[in-house]
Amino acid sequence: MKIISSIEELRDQLRGQLRTAFVPTMGNLHEGHLSLMRLARRHGDPVVASIFVNRLQFGPNEDFEKYPRTFQADVEKLEKEGVYVLFAPTEKDLYPEPQEYRVQPPDDLGGILEGEFRPGFFNGVSTVVMKLFSCVQPKVAVFGKKDYQQLMIIRNMAKQFALPTEIIAAETWRAEDGLALSSRNGYLSADERAEAPILYQTLNRVADEVRSGRTDITQIEQEAMATLADRHWKPDYVAVRKRVNLQAPSTDDIANKEALVVLTAAKLGNTRLIDNLEI
Ligand code: PAJ
Repeated sequence: MKIISSIEELRDQLRGQLRTAFVPTMGNLHEGHLSLMRLARRHGDPVVASIFVNRLQFGPNEDFEKYPRTFQADVEKLEKEGVYVLFAPTEKDLYPEPQEYRVQPPDDLGGILEGEFRPGFFNGVSTVVMKLFSCVQPKVAVFGKKDYQQLMIIRNMAKQFALPTEIIAAETWRAEDGLALSSRNGYLSADERAEAPILYQTLNRVADEVRSGRTDITQIEQEAMATLADRHWKPDYVAVRKRVNLQAPSTDDIANKEALVVLTAAKLGNTRLIDNLEI
């Protein structure tokens, strides 16, 4: 595997490649990330991964400084997956000057859910993904459903900018007890780790309620938030939404069996976890 930090060298290395499959990450790789590499391999060749902890998508009080950085271990994992190039730019490589041109997602998609609780987050994500795409020029790029809203925003960005990159969705990889793998799980204490699967269980309960025919969505959401709060979580949201645009379903939508997804974000101690489940 070639490890490349400069944009120019990356361009030289990938010149003439027409079927590149790309997986952007922030490193501290786990099985979820590696499942994306495998999916990428099925959709293109060569596979290019990136590791870049993107300052633009962290709020002033968020965990940019303490975000886990495990570069050597990550390199070994990517080698084993047969990744051809690891693009690992420094901040100077990717942002040699302040990034003043930005990609601003529309408020109705980028300002809700995660966007409401993390202002500027999707601007930072969209901007870096656009820039990484410009560097790698991939035919396909793989994103996890774990970050459901991010996946949708990148999909819409690619469509509206007519990018020549197809966005492929990967299923969420979970631990045996249901907890979605995440780099932030490493922040959990042993007790918190034991409690963490409750988040996925809560999503399953909401999904079951909706499938059983309940239509009082707001009530179901509030019950789920209360369950979490009773167990000392601090939920930001539990929201049943239409998969197509992440807007709240109307009673007609529910009667018409519109495809739904339930999304959540909640803090356990100091760690903020997100998860979702297609209903
Ligand atoms: P990061 O959190 O490192 O995630 C990189 C990719 O791995 C994302 O597409 C994410 O959805 C996916 N992923 C994470 N956990 C997963 C799991 N348990 N199962 C399946 N896929 C999972 O998301 C980012 O980085 C950044 O926002 C990025 C897109 C790289 C832009 O900076």
